[in-house]
Amino acid sequence: MAKEGFVVTPWEVRGEIDYDKLIKQFGISPIDENLLARIKKHTKELHFMLRRKIFFAHRDLDWLLDEYEKGNEFYLYTGRGPSGHTHLGHLIPWIFTKWLQDKFGAKLYFQITDDEKFLFKRELELEDTKRFSYENILDIIALGFDPKKTFIFLDTEYCKTLYPQAVRVAKHITFSTAKAVFGFKNESNIGQIFFTSMQAVPAFLESVKRKKNVPCLIPLGVDQDPHFRVARDVMPKLGYYKPAIIHSKLLPSLLGPGTKMSASDPRSTIYTTDSEEVARKKIMNAFTGQQPTAELQRKLGGNPEICSVCQYYYFLFEEDDKKVEEIFEAERNGSLLAGEHKADLAERVVKFLKEHQKKREKARDQIEKFILRD
Ligand code: TYM
Repeated sequence: MAKEGFVVTPWEVRGEIDYDKLIKQFGISPIDENLLARIKKHTKELHFMLRRKIFFAHRDLDWLLDEYEKGNEFYLYTGRGPSGHTHLGHLIPWIFTKWLQDKFGAKLYFQITDDEKFLFKRELELEDTKRFSYENILDIIALGFDPKKTFIFLDTEYCKTLYPQAVRVAKHITFSTAKAVFGFKNESNIGQIFFTSMQAVPAFLESVKRKKNVPCLIPLGVDQDPHFRVARDVMPKLGYYKPAIIHSKLLPSLLGPGTKMSASDPRSTIYTTDSEEVARKKIMNAFTGQQPTAELQRKLGGNPEICSVCQYYYFLFEEDDKKVEEIFEAERNGSLLAGEHKADLAERVVKFLKEHQKKREKARDQIEKFILRD
């Protein structure tokens, strides 16, 4: 699909995303070298997702650092919509959030929007989204967040706290704004139209609790930005700071550029719960964009930008920039053939999955340490 044809909304990601265009469309700011240097001053090193501009854009991050440098510490907020098992793409903002928590010692609110997925997915009942919530929480805990500083909650369970704040937000959002930003139709159910108010709440919840304004930083995949575009207009009307945001690019589908990474096509991504066999098979079937024969590939080489295998290394599975460049170069000059390329990645992914799945099992009796209840 042509780059012009891409769509990025919280409920649909389609086509080959042009991130420069998206920056303009969404009105977000690119992360530049000055901002990276400012972050590094505090963190001493830069996470590879920052070095590579996988986290590529922001809103008000300079303001957040101004506040931090004045001694006004921030908290973190991110989330998950439990429509199924966690896939590797979801881990990108979460791994980065954990790094921020470690580097800044920040408290984290982790919202699980089981209400959202019930309202937006015809086939899911509340029991399903609750079940997936607790499955997804295992993945979150397995990433190693600090139990003393991490507060996870489900919208339908923590509603006594969330609902009164959500109605305060909702009163400032008109139907025409919701339609313009999210594309709702007359046929959309009214829960969907209200929902964005629930996602806004954790962006000022700490200020409500502490009865003073506390800066908030939200790491997310760029598809979630529209919620906060709306929320940021409302926050000052309620007397709170606008949250700062840092946006990541989206891990591409295993099936190649322009194809959808989606829950409805399990071949397009790897779930944290996939068995070794399933993960290997998905990777061996991945799109590399290489030439049709080994001979042609050796002669003409391939394109790492469209190769799913190269992109998996780049986004998640190789932290060493030099090694990534070597892999990309071997793809370009034709010395690395698809079979070997995929088999190497499969080893890395399987190793990760085995370790993650062990931690996931251990997390089962840790859940209550992390859950916020009212
Ligand atoms: P959800 O469950 O769709 O996604 C969870 C997080 O993962 C990001 N994400 C990706 N990141 C990189 N590559 C991908 N392929 C990819 N796919 C998804 C999402 O952008 C998101 O950050 N409504 C939200 C849940 C939520 C939330 C929040 C998210 C509630 N409050 C605050 C971020 C910040 C949702 O359904 O996310």
